[in-house]
Amino acid sequence: MSRWTMTYFSASIAFLLSGLVSIGSGYGTLSAVDAPDNLAIIHLIVIGWLGLLFCGALLQFVPVLSATHLRLPWLAAPALLALCLGLGLLTMGFLALGGRLPIDATIMSVGGMLLGIGFLCIMAMLATTIVAQRAFGISGFLVLVGLCALGVTIVLGNMFASLLAGVLDIPLLATHLAELAPYHAGLGILGWMTVTAIGVSYRLFAMFMLAPERTGARNPIAIAVPCALAALFSAIGLRFLDAAWAQTVTIVAVILLALIVGLYGQDVWRMFKARRRKTLELNSWTGLAALGFLALAAMLLVGAVSFSTNMALATAAFYLLIMGWLTGLGLGQLYKIIPFLTWLETYGPVMGRREVPRVQDLVDERHARPWFGTFYVSVLVGAAAILFGSDPLFRAATWIQCAAVAALALEYLRARRLSYAPLHVRLPPGAVRPHTICVTTQTKE
Ligand code: HEM
Repeated sequence: MSRWTMTYFSASIAFLLSGLVSIGSGYGTLSAVDAPDNLAIIHLIVIGWLGLLFCGALLQFVPVLSATHLRLPWLAAPALLALCLGLGLLTMGFLALGGRLPIDATIMSVGGMLLGIGFLCIMAMLATTIVAQRAFGISGFLVLVGLCALGVTIVLGNMFASLLAGVLDIPLLATHLAELAPYHAGLGILGWMTVTAIGVSYRLFAMFMLAPERTGARNPIAIAVPCALAALFSAIGLRFLDAAWAQTVTIVAVILLALIVGLYGQDVWRMFKARRRKTLELNSWTGLAALGFLALAAMLLVGAVSFSTNMALATAAFYLLIMGWLTGLGLGQLYKIIPFLTWLETYGPVMGRREVPRVQDLVDERHARPWFGTFYVSVLVGAAAILFGSDPLFRAATWIQCAAVAALALEYLRARRLSYAPLHVRLPPGAVRPHTICVTTQTKE
């Protein structure tokens, strides 16, 4: 078990709640996506929530995918510290830019550098673990490709931050900042997170549905993903050169993305049909719902890039990717991962010697089900609010999301505190109630 995964998860949920409360309380506006208030909240959610969630989960799963132990495990704690500190400074920098904090905005480039260091530590741990095995399946391959996209996202982010803070003076970059920002966002949300989520979920869906894995290296996704990323990288270069076909290359990248989503959906559908677990658990249903949001977002994105000059369509597509697809998938998988890790940590030492509960005994799906439903409906309402440009509706949808996330966080806490475990097997002799936000008994790292 990775010692720091639970700490990453705890921090990520705190960042998500703080982002949602900020939007609900009136920070940010739909009329200018690149306003400093919006950028502060966007990064709280994409780096604080999704970034830490992904890092924490990958520290746990990459060793499982690669059937080996995590390399450089001592980097996990300093990386978390650098990421939290860096995000704090970046957010303060955005608030300074917007005139909300009376401090020097150069702080945001220090934040960017700390974020770069934190992510570099994570990349080093994951990449060395994956390449330590000579053959890695599609999951490991997609995680590696995702890490390349993360690297470019960070470089672009740091260039933007230094430019906005006045630390860097590159007129060519300043002229192209507005048109390059969506590529930075696309590389982070699609290139890194979506590609990684697809890679890891091949394994997770197979595991949770008891379905045959579709992880063979000859999967066409293994070709389509690098092609889509290469198209995105080329489009960035062409934007710098003011080349006329930068837009055409971008459209090719987005169409490839839609193709990847189609291939992935087809694979998940085959796993769904071939599954041996006929009654699916809640986390599998929420994962399938998240996939529906991915498909919807991909269609909107193709429409936005190919036919529309309406910014709201692209914003709604990114919103559906961040909240419907990645957040929905993340909240659903946490509902399984937290009880599973808690179960391993608590009952692993006494397994085979004492009667212990099942993993599913640590949760009560009747409590969580309505909140997942509420969450997904509020995401649809939020997307509609973006399309109609209604700030009040968007804030109302965000408060509902916030209530759903808080209720789910309580369910995670109950699982972690063993609250639902039947009393007679809750703490057999030799088992210790786990610490809420970190793993104390480390079986392997
Ligand atoms: C070292 C880490 C990062 C730094 C320093 C950074 C910095 C920035 C800056 C300065 C901007 C504003 C650009 C502008 O003025 O329009 C920006 C925009 C944005 N960033 Fe980041 N970023 C980082 C990582 C990420 C990651 C990992 C993601 C997503 C996963 C992300 C998503 C976004 C989004 C969605 C926008 C708004 C784009 C738009 O206006 O169209 N950033 N970032």
